[in-house]
Amino acid sequence: MTDSKLCALAIKAMENSYSPYSSCKVGAALLTKSGKVYTGCNIENASFTPTVCAERTAFFKAISEGEKEFEKIAVAGGKDGVVTGAFSPCGVCRQVMSEFCSPDFEILIVKGEESFDKVKLSDLLPYSFKKENVK
Ligand code: THU
Repeated sequence: MTDSKLCALAIKAMENSYSPYSSCKVGAALLTKSGKVYTGCNIENASFTPTVCAERTAFFKAISEGEKEFEKIAVAGGKDGVVTGAFSPCGVCRQVMSEFCSPDFEILIVKGEESFDKVKLSDLLPYSFKKENVK
């Protein structure tokens, strides 16, 4: 699975976004260490708080199917479905990633059809609170 292909799958996943309140369509494509891809989209709610981001949809789909090891995730999003590169994972999604991924887990932030930034989870969530801290 190339980075470009994973980004294309994230763009494709935007199609199922349920976002009548923000009009921001977001898609994510999560690659497991075994090579399988789980996609997700943002799902909003009239009560706002239950809204879930594309990244967490992808993670929770994968985890509920028994997946435990993750390689990287691509995230694509934009107002009215126009991808701009503005959709970096929110703080809650970063915390969910830190529960299941190592600090070198890669996040591809899609900026356009053939353009993306690549960052590591440790860049997005340094000095994180993890399961080791609870023991
Ligand atoms: N959103 C995501 O799905 N992922 C992100 O990385 C940031 C924000 C969604 C949540 C909400 O439906 C909309 O984008 C506007 O915040």
